[in-house]
Amino acid sequence: MPMQSETRQDLRLIGGSAATRELDREIDVAAQSDARVLITGETGVGKDLLARLIHQRSRRRLAPRATGNCAGVSDTLIEAELFGHLRGSFTDAYRDKPGILESAPNGTVFLDEVGEMSPRMQASLLRFLETGEIQRVGGATTMPRVNVRVIAATNRDLGAAVAAGAFRQDLYYRLDVLHLRVPSLRERCDDIPALLEHFLGHYARQHRSPARAWSAEAVGVLSEYSWPGNVRQLRNAVERIVLRAAGPCIDVRDLPLDLRGAAAASVTAGSASAYTPKAETSAGDLLGRILQGGESFWSAVYTPFMSRDIRRADLKAVLKEGLERSGGNYRLVVRLFNMPDGDYKRFLNFLRQYGCHLPYRSFREAPLARARVA
Ligand SMILES: Nc1ncnc2c1ncn2[C@@H]1O[C@H](COP(=O)(O)OP(=O)(O)OP(=O)(O)O)[C@@H](O)[C@H]1O
Ligand SMILES: [Mg+2]
Repeated sequence: MPMQSETRQDLRLIGGSAATRELDREIDVAAQSDARVLITGETGVGKDLLARLIHQRSRRRLAPRATGNCAGVSDTLIEAELFGHLRGSFTDAYRDKPGILESAPNGTVFLDEVGEMSPRMQASLLRFLETGEIQRVGGATTMPRVNVRVIAATNRDLGAAVAAGAFRQDLYYRLDVLHLRVPSLRERCDDIPALLEHFLGHYARQHRSPARAWSAEAVGVLSEYSWPGNVRQLRNAVERIVLRAAGPCIDVRDLPLDLRGAAAASVTAGSASAYTPKAETSAGDLLGRILQGGESFWSAVYTPFMSRDIRRADLKAVLKEGLERSGGNYRLVVRLFNMPDGDYKRFLNFLRQYGCHLPYRSFREAPLARARVA
């Protein structure tokens, strides 16, 4: 359960587009009250960052901030993570443990991926939001009420999920008091030059590489690109470019082919930088969404797997590719698949629970070139 204390400097919304300036104002408004906030937007647009900014600008900034992820693994484990559990209430519950909602008194709890909750979890969360009472898994009585502000996020269209009967309307209304919609990067391409500048400086410092600058042409090409994985994809792309580029000026030829637009990519398709699915398998599509689109494993693979839209063989094929690229290192696979480092255990539990765990040893002999996380 990550608890963060961040400096103001780490937390900035980069970009001067009208949409981003408006978002910044909405963050200020949200920070002034204790109202629940629902943050929606595509993968990688900055929902997590917004939640952190709201907490940091609010009266609660000195109290803890905790994050609970509502996707992944079984209901029991998610319920135990949010509400806590009593010793012996399920197989791995060796001692009493408070849940995330209890762990940030007077602070903020960020519930990520709320759109993925099962009906049972939706009912438990609704009960908590209505009464403020927490019942630990395996406990008969409720715990004393906690003062916690809830911010929720999802990359689903919750209104549509409500209309389709997949998400409870009463819970939706409880969560959706203030609603921050984060536009995709395509809808605010004016932000792209500032983001490129910001991440270039950041990664040049982090990797101790000489100061670099973008050529005007490179910025032009990258501003035209559609960025399906939004800011996360841009950030990852800049890191790779910093690690690869040689000269002080980053020009169009230093850009990965897949970012140079459809024309350039089709001429030289199959380059080492792009993932090219061997066949039109859904595993290939899923990998493209993760590796190029910057989408997280949870939304690209876990969700369709749980709703039986993809097969176990597809999931295993995706995992196999991840293990090959990371030289059999599951921690690197977590990063490669756009999950926060803290999701490592959750990821492994999920794979084991559904019989999809692959032995890492067979990937350890992979040539070094593959071990690089692209
Ligand atoms: N406007 C911005 N300025 C600076 N950094 C940003 C901005 N927007 C996003 N980022 C950075 O991009 C990365 C992805 O953002 P974040 O994790 O908040 O996305 P998300 O919407 O929560 O994605 P997901 O739906 O996949 O969880 C983070 O490193 C975040 O700090
Ligand atoms: Mg997120």
